[in-house]
Formats: sequence, structure tokens, C-alpha cells
Amino acid sequence: MDLLLTGELDAAERERWRAELAAALAGALPGARLWCDGESFDAAAIGVALAANPPPGRLQRLPNLKLVHSLWAGVDRLLADPTLPPGVPIVRMVDPAMSAAMAETALWAVLALHRGFFAYARRQRERRWQVHAQKRADEITVTVLGLGQMGLAAARRLDSVGYRVAGWTLQPRPPADDGIVRHAGADALPALLAASDVVVNLLPLTPATRGLIDARFLGALPLGAGLVNLARGAHVVEADLLAALDGGRLRDAVLDVFAVEPLPAGHAFWRHPRVTVLPHAAALTDPRRHAGLLSAAGGGAGRGQSSIVHS
Ligand code: GLV
Repeated sequence: MDLLLTGELDAAERERWRAELAAALAGALPGARLWCDGESFDAAAIGVALAANPPPGRLQRLPNLKLVHSLWAGVDRLLADPTLPPGVPIVRMVDPAMSAAMAETALWAVLALHRGFFAYARRQRERRWQVHAQKRADEITVTVLGLGQMGLAAARRLDSVGYRVAGWTLQPRPPADDGIVRHAGADALPALLAASDVVVNLLPLTPATRGLIDARFLGALPLGAGLVNLARGAHVVEADLLAALDGGRLRDAVLDVFAVEPLPAGHAFWRHPRVTVLPHAAALTDPRRHAGLLSAAGGGAGRGQSSIVHS
């Protein structure tokens, strides 16, 4: 059986992935060959696609595909391909190390918003020595949208340093004894947002969550709130976000994801004084852990985990 590494990777990323995967395959599935897009492989021999958001239609060209293994945790773009081969399971990366990295990014962003460190960075650029008032963590309410692997890890990390943490999901979740106050459904959102100092978005992108963070959502926040988007750009109506920043409703936004990536050079977010831009780097897949799945498949010690999301 052959494997195809397919999708959006730049040359350096592709070579890094190829090296890790090839080493894992040599131990786990000797004889299996690993191919990359653009090479002259036999499409009928490909049984597994290692997928980094391949363009729609590419997987359809592999007639004997048995499994699609996403390199990434979010599979919204894979699932949006109308030509996905029916019956072929799609698994996504589920890695506690990735959830921990996401929780670190959420914690950094919330701390910086709560303590006004972004404002101090702006003042440094102006050589302005000016102290602002300081609040305790337990005076700050953080709402985490989405309580999947990453959302829960972030919510628990924030709770562990003393923030008042609320979690919101579209559908109700069973209660848990972990300090996170759970809310569910669209009706719960306005009151929850009105009480939130910071909102951290870690929702999956689905038709129900696309565009959720719009003028109405932002208008429900208290004046001076902070927004941290670590999920998908399409959750946010970018023009509404800019209006909320310029109108003062939002004091700061920390954005890791955008409607168009890489963020175009002329985009207003790059230059906005109260937007912090990250290059979709809040939690990266570690190729060694993904390759560990292949070792596991061959009986070796697996280091990552995967989860079936579609079949
Ligand atoms: C990153 O956004 C991922 O889906 O892994």
C-alpha cells in the first residue's frame, strides 16, 4: 500500500513531514511507499492520504483510497469538498500536546488582555511611561466558545490561574466538576457575552458557527472587552470586528486565523494598533507525533492520537 502526502505545505514543511513520515513508515509498514503531490505515482496504489487541506477534487482521483488522515486538527476544509470519496473514513489529529499548546496561547492572550500588556507595548512605542489600574484574575470573566479538546484544555488552564471561566457550546454538555460554568445554545449567548471581559473562540467551523462573531455578537459585549480568535477566520465577520474595534466596543483583538490566509499584505488587521496578528500558529501539529500514528498502525509505540470524524 502506498501513501500520499497531499495539500498545502511549503517546500520546507513538506520535506520535514516527508522525513518524519518516512522514518515512521520504515519501522511500521516496511515496503509502503510515501509519495508527495507532483510526483509520478500510481493513483490506484494509494491507500492512505495524509492530508494538509488538499484542493477539492484531489482525493476523488485516488480510486482505492481506504483512509484520509488529516495532518491538522480542524477538518472543516476537507469536509467542504463535495467530491470526497464516499465511505472513506477521515480521521483528524487529536493530540494532548496540541491542546496544551493551544491552552498556552489562550492563557498568554488572556493574561496580556487582562493586565493591559498590549497597551503597555503600544506605550513603549510612544516612549510613554504610564501605569494603568490592575485587576485580580478572579475579577475577570473569560468566556470560552467551544468545549472540545482544545476549548476544554484552554478553559481549564484559564481556570487554574484564577479567572472566572464560562464555557459556551451550541448543544448542551454534561456538567463536570471542574470550575467551568457551562452554557449552551444561542439564547444563552447575549447574557453571557454581556458579562464577559474576554471571549476566546475555539469553536469548530460548521454552518451553524460560520459568521457567529458578527455585529450583533460584538454589540452584546461590554465596552472595552477583548476577543481572542484561535479557531477559524470564517467565524468572524471581519468588517464587523473592525467596526467594533474602531467604535471602542472592543479594546483589543488577538487573531490567529483569518478569512484569507496568509493574511493579505494590504489587510487592515496588519496595521491596526489594537490587533495582534499571529500567523495561524496557536497550536501546530508536531510531525513526529503524527508519524507516531503510523508507527502505532504497524505495532510500534504511537505518540499521537487520532479521531474518526467522517466516514
Ligand atoms: C489548525 O488550525 C488545525 O486545524 O490543526
